[in-house]
Amino acid sequence: MLVHNFSIISLILAILVILILEGDKRMCGIVGYIGFKNELDVKDVLLSGLSKLEYRGYDSAGICIYNEGIHIFKDAGRVEHLKTLVDDSITANLGIGHTRWATHGKPSKRNSHPHQSLSTRFTVVHNGVIENEIELREKYLSNYPFVSETDTEVIVALIEKFVMEGTEPTIAIRQVMGLIKGSYAIGIIDSETPDKFYAAKNKSPLLIGLGNNFNMIGSDAMSIIKYTNKFIEIYDQEFIVLAADKVSIYSILGNQIERNYYVETLDAADTEKGVYPHYMLKEIDEQPFALRRLISEYFTDTDYNIDADITDTLRNTDRIYIIAAGTSMHAGLVGKQFFEQIANIPTEVHISSEFIYNTPLINDNPLFIFLSQSGETADSRAVLVKIKELGFKSLTITNAKGSTLSREADYTLLIHAGVEIAVASTKAYTSQIAVMAILATKEAEIDATVIKKDLSLIANVIEGITDNKTIFKELADQYLTKRSCFYIGRHIDYFVAVEAALKLKEISYIQTEGFAAGELKHGTIALIEEGTPVIAIISQENINLNTRSNIKEVKSRGASTIIISLKSLSSATDQIVIDDVSPILSPIVTIVPTQLLAYYAALSRGLDIDKPRNLAKSVTVE
Ligand code: F6R
Repeated sequence: MLVHNFSIISLILAILVILILEGDKRMCGIVGYIGFKNELDVKDVLLSGLSKLEYRGYDSAGICIYNEGIHIFKDAGRVEHLKTLVDDSITANLGIGHTRWATHGKPSKRNSHPHQSLSTRFTVVHNGVIENEIELREKYLSNYPFVSETDTEVIVALIEKFVMEGTEPTIAIRQVMGLIKGSYAIGIIDSETPDKFYAAKNKSPLLIGLGNNFNMIGSDAMSIIKYTNKFIEIYDQEFIVLAADKVSIYSILGNQIERNYYVETLDAADTEKGVYPHYMLKEIDEQPFALRRLISEYFTDTDYNIDADITDTLRNTDRIYIIAAGTSMHAGLVGKQFFEQIANIPTEVHISSEFIYNTPLINDNPLFIFLSQSGETADSRAVLVKIKELGFKSLTITNAKGSTLSREADYTLLIHAGVEIAVASTKAYTSQIAVMAILATKEAEIDATVIKKDLSLIANVIEGITDNKTIFKELADQYLTKRSCFYIGRHIDYFVAVEAALKLKEISYIQTEGFAAGELKHGTIALIEEGTPVIAIISQENINLNTRSNIKEVKSRGASTIIISLKSLSSATDQIVIDDVSPILSPIVTIVPTQLLAYYAALSRGLDIDKPRNLAKSVTVE
């Protein structure tokens, strides 16, 4: 067991992780389609694609289809609502669709995409934020009668302005791309050339899907995998012309670029809920499979299977800097323990949005590890851009092959967790931790069969937990009924506590804090009142008694307590007892009951579990 390699130095980091996922940090979605007549019905394609993009978070949806003219259907609200607005009698072979998360102007029909130019010749959908919108309005569009409050309208207004001044439309679009500062993935229809449509991208994700007799764009593979598995990546500042039988990629300067397609292995069925009421529950249950898949990817029968370039780089590094946000950052806190305790490499964990301001002194041979399930988080990408400028090495650990962070880092390790659709990350967290454990044990030259066995055991233990869900529903119904809640833990359990707290707060809206158990008495204990739930995690022998004393402290002040413990450390009254696993790897297991508690707390409150309010799956705006 790895416990033998784990120094039991008590390294309690007093980091208070207050994670605020603000409403203006979001990710809209785009789908676009052009096909020959009688191929697919564009309405179905767009609406199905937008449904697949719902997980990213949105508050409005809209589509534009072309049939002897432009027809736009849009409104604030869900895709289901949009479906009721679309005129079924119109068939079309060209269209673009959009889910919007309001930033510039409230969710409303007027602010929903698509947006049109004044003459209605150009129609656009846009993801991202135009940072110099005001400057562009003042310089080029001072008398323009804007219809919406969005930054997006500037795009079509400018294109039309340049076209009216005599510029050819494709040149006008590239000219506008050159003027915009910020992020964008856009789809544009020019109603005078309905045999094609245009797309462009900078910082916001966008992919081309190639079909037989049709071509598409989508914000991610999931949105269009039902129709094709052949994809072409679009890089930043590229301009695309899509026709039913042809796709052309150009640089912003108009130079044509050749790029091969790749075949996406994602199965369309992976994106369905199947028998599950929610994606989150499905994804919690998938964790053992995800771990087993990871084992098959990262090991041969008796050895590790990791790219030697990565292990060589790790060997030569004198400090690891883990850069991540949210749940991934919490996985990073656990990873730090592996890299330091197992691999003996000093490691720091940084919240990506803070790194730019609180940049630490950097060692001579750093390795930056970007942890990101989506591979698209703008805050993390900003750090990647910065450290690349400084010439430092980078490794992205992600679930998304071909994502921005993966493409732009020197190396990538995939977590192979399978599609994660619920906004609250579950299997990506456990798989990220497992990949870091494998990397650290490889670096420490620990026999591969040992860690393989430990991870296999963990997969079985998780199955034991997820097979018995009733207890979690009962505990959630009994305890998680208050306005606030605390998770506490010491040592590595503290890092699980902060992630457990995030899970509960983000989907149940119960105000929850993850606390270092010993820190609670230094102020926060004042918040404990009659019935306040306090949930303790106990997976390490050296903290068992101390955490239990903290539980007693809060209990005597009225708290209702739940203890999650490993069997060998458990006491008869602990409500959730987990079979023993390697203590240092225990976060992969101890988090699972907390995911289920969060799920059932949200369920009993009747909340939108897979799409919690104000949150988006990928946060592509800094
Ligand atoms: C919460 C959650 C978020 C993400 C964060 C970073 O359940 O999923 O906190 O972890 O937005 O996203 P990624 O991992 O895609 O970089």
